[in-house]
This record gives sequence, C-alpha cells and structure tokens, in this order.
Amino acid sequence: MVRTSSPGKVILFGEHAVVYGEPAIALAVTSRFKMNVRPRAGGKGHLVDGHRMTAAHHSYFKYAVENYWDGGPLDIATDSEIPSSSGMGSSAALTTSLMGALVELSGGTIDDERERIARQSFATEYGVQGRASPTDTSTATMGMGILLAKGPMDGLLWHVERGGAEWYIHRVDVPQLNIVVGFTGIKGNTGELVAKVRRFWESNNFAKETVADIGKLTMEGVEALNAGDVERLGELMDRNHQMLSILGVNHPKLQRLVEAARPHSYGAKLTGAGGGGSMIAITDEPERVAKAIQDAGGRPFIAEIRAPGLRRDGD
Ligand code: PMV
Repeated sequence: MVRTSSPGKVILFGEHAVVYGEPAIALAVTSRFKMNVRPRAGGKGHLVDGHRMTAAHHSYFKYAVENYWDGGPLDIATDSEIPSSSGMGSSAALTTSLMGALVELSGGTIDDERERIARQSFATEYGVQGRASPTDTSTATMGMGILLAKGPMDGLLWHVERGGAEWYIHRVDVPQLNIVVGFTGIKGNTGELVAKVRRFWESNNFAKETVADIGKLTMEGVEALNAGDVERLGELMDRNHQMLSILGVNHPKLQRLVEAARPHSYGAKLTGAGGGGSMIAITDEPERVAKAIQDAGGRPFIAEIRAPGLRRDGD
C-alpha cells in the first residue's frame, strides 16, 4: 500500500489571466488531500472509497488511471481536508496525490519524478476540465510558493506549453503571511467560469487589456513578495479583485466577504475561479477577519502557508 498527500492552494494573483499565459502566483496551504492506494486482490475494476470507479463520479481518477497506469485493479481510499469546489485546488491535490501513488507503486520515487508527476497531473486536469493552466497542479506537486511567468527567471523549475499558451514554472520565496480564506459555500464551476471569460476575451478588447493588466500587476506582486512589503501586496490584491470583477467572475456573496474583511486587512480578493468559491485576505488580525467573514455569512478558515508539496506519507 502507498499513502500520499498533496496540499491545497490559494492563488495570490493572476487567476484567469494565467489561462492565457499571463503570470500567476499560488501558495500551498497546510490542508491536504490524502490517499491510500493498494493493488486490489481478487477483484475486477478499480474502486474509489469502496465504489466502482466511474467517469461520472471519479473523472480525475479515471483519466489518470486510464492514461498513466498499466498495472492491475486498484483500491483507492481518500481523505480530504480541502473543501471541494471551494477554489482551494482540491482536484489538483487529488490528481497529484494519485499520480505520486502510481509512481511509487511502479517502483519509482516521487522525488525523482516530480516534474513528470506535475506534467501528467496538468494533462489530466486539462483532459477532464478543458482549458486550464498548470497553476494548481504545479503548486500541489511542489508546495510552498509557485510563480508562473512568461519567461525564465531565478528559481526556474520547468517550462510547459499547451493549447497555444506557455508558462515558465518557478519556485518563489514566500514570507510568513497571515491569510484568511472565506468560503462562500457556493460551489463555483471552474470550467464554466473559464469558458465565460474566454467568450468575453474573444469578443472584447477591453477584456484582453484587463487580462494583460492582471499579468503586469502579478509581476509587481512578485517584487512586493520579494521585498516582504505586505502593504503593497494588499493594494495589489484589491486591484486584482477589481480586475476580476471586470472579467465577470465576482459574485455578490464573494463581494460581501471581501468588503467585510477589508477594514482589518492589508487587502482582499477572490481566489481561484470565482462565481462563488472563496476569497482571501492578508491581515495582522486573522481572528478578527475570520469573525468578520463569519458575520457576513461566509465560512472562514485561517490558512497556514509555506506547506510542503506532494509526498509519500508513512505507511
Ligand atoms: O477554481 P480553481 O482554484 O481551480 O482556480 C482555477 C484558476 C483559473 O485560473 C481560473 C483556471 C486555471 O486553470 O488556472
């Protein structure tokens, strides 16, 4: 049996724009997707949590196993600390955990195969979800902080190209930040939101400019992170949120949580695909911001960042 786990993530800057090859920064959080995978003795077909694996219920598992596993039937048990469809990257954490388990069951090691795991996990997300960026799968695989940029910089890990876009994937240093996540309780559909932004982008120059502006702002965010300048980070987050609203992925409940958090925060923005899902705030008063989010009808969660990436856990 192999036990693996991968972290969830929050996107600090650049969601949606990153789908077009613009930069983004994502931070791994300590909530993890955990998995036990064992060969299934004496049975036909794969099982997930005791149920037969189907495309309707286990799309990521099925895609990954069909494309990247040539052994026998598997028995997979999952245990997630990451709420699904909350914008915290549970599908990427699931996919990378599974891919890591498949590598270890085949006699390889996660540490030797990290790049291949990240590439195959991205291909799986892309295959299941349609157009996507490698943000979530890179962060779940590597942990800590990840920058996707338009060209190579310090900390380069690898380069990825897909669907006419390309990304240079880097490690990025992450200072200690207090991040509070507020989940609206509304599950956003990432595929539909990405498609909605695409229709806007295809038909409208202002949308194209907004996507490019998000990219520029994200690179300013890299400088602010490197300088440990939280005030600047907060201002940039507020502006990024405004730009995401222009792209049409905000939601009244998200806006309520963002506004509730701001009086006690450096900055706040929606994170992930939007349309519901979650927001994040950076603050020196996490308990106070969590309370404000709760009072505004959200589900707060004080996120610990600087979390390790995909790993094999003790048997
Ligand atoms: O909802 P999430 O956390 O999976 O965020 C998706 C981020 C997008 O930029 C909207 C899509 C992507 O694949 O990068």
